Amino acid sequence: MRLVMKPLHQRLLCVPDRSFFLFGPRGVGKSTWLMEALPGALRLDLLDARTSLELGRSPTALEGMAGTLPPGSWIVLDEIQRIPALLDEVHRLMQMRRWRFALCGSSARKLKRGGANLLAGRAVTRRMAPFVSAELGSGFDLRSSLEWGNLPAVREDAAGAADLLTAYVHTYLREEIREEGVLRRLDPFLRFLAIAGMMNGQTINLQNIAREAAVPRSTVESYFSVLTDTLLGEFLTAWRPHFKVREQVHPKFYWFDAGVARGAAGLLRQPAEREWLGRALEAHLLHEIRVHNEVSDKHCPIRFYRTSAGVEIDFILETVQRTSAHPAQVVGIEVKLAERWDRGWERPLRDLASQKGVRVQRMIGVYTGPRSYRFDGFDVLPATEFLRRLHAGDIF
Ligand SMILES: Nc1ncnc2c1ncn2[C@@H]1O[C@H](COP(=O)(O)OP(=O)(O)OP(=O)(O)O)[C@@H](O)[C@H]1O
Ligand SMILES: [Mg+2]
Repeated sequence: MRLVMKPLHQRLLCVPDRSFFLFGPRGVGKSTWLMEALPGALRLDLLDARTSLELGRSPTALEGMAGTLPPGSWIVLDEIQRIPALLDEVHRLMQMRRWRFALCGSSARKLKRGGANLLAGRAVTRRMAPFVSAELGSGFDLRSSLEWGNLPAVREDAAGAADLLTAYVHTYLREEIREEGVLRRLDPFLRFLAIAGMMNGQTINLQNIAREAAVPRSTVESYFSVLTDTLLGEFLTAWRPHFKVREQVHPKFYWFDAGVARGAAGLLRQPAEREWLGRALEAHLLHEIRVHNEVSDKHCPIRFYRTSAGVEIDFILETVQRTSAHPAQVVGIEVKLAERWDRGWERPLRDLASQKGVRVQRMIGVYTGPRSYRFDGFDVLPATEFLRRLHAGDIF
């Protein structure tokens, strides 16, 4: 029983009508959401030693545990990655008994490593991430989102944020990573983690990082794949407006949470620098854009753009994908940590809009000043106003 009945923040994620996987990093609120969203479900937590022992020994015991539940009933299996073999039984019961399953875990990586069949497409996949502004309502604070991130535990205890994030990085991350058989030695990975933490929102050159972390390039590559598979971060690749093959542009890496990135970088005990905050602003907006993209079922590709002159546009959302018959249609977003908007910042997007072979549907500048503007088709929005419009479906 919950002793402290603090009201929960309502999440944007909706329950699909059929079986689903729910993946997300540790501590983002997966179990809590499943409890709220599927109140009548049979709940089996594989973290519980007895349950996990019984089901580990004999997966067929699952059918008996669910007993005579009618078809369509929900069964929640939390921490499914602990017994990947259980998925075969889940698969059978979905077909034979028509039960619906919510399968929750911190990443698909362990399931796949455990040789599990991921139900051959019979279950959809949903992702949970730290809070976004629309979930926190009046409790949302941009500045603290950039400094400390939005893990639920951090939001609940702002004063203890640095300690919580240190613990998150040192315990959760280390545990997650230790379980990953690929990492035989922890030290080089921790060195890498510190560098990757500092690189939040930056272009990733594997060769340079390999040199700095004193490990081979292929190792850095596998380290990054651990981070992306366990959903701690994602690469943003460069957008190519035309089919022509162009020079290779390195991707950027964005952490799932600015606070965790800062913790990984070991920067929690010193004031966040302006440059860091600027990238954290980009990272946070990307996080919110991604959540909206997913919960609104739009699934638009998100990229950044670097012109041949080396000028960047932070985010390009491809709302209509390019085909050989028609050009791509995009929303371009430029992000600046600045109290005042400099009209020169509109240039790269305006240049893109004047190019042939692409339709720029909207040009948006996001900054940290107080006022909204519209300059000749270009919207300049304070970050919080942008977020409000984003979740209202007014951006894309
Ligand atoms: N919607 C919410 N509103 C307020 N607090 C929340 C909410 N969701 C989660 N929390 C708090 O965040 C903490 C972590 O939540 P939870 O255990 O559900 O995360 P999880 O994703 O299941 O983590 P793990 O991967 O470690 O199992 C809990 O202390 C919980 O009370
Ligand atoms: Mg949980």
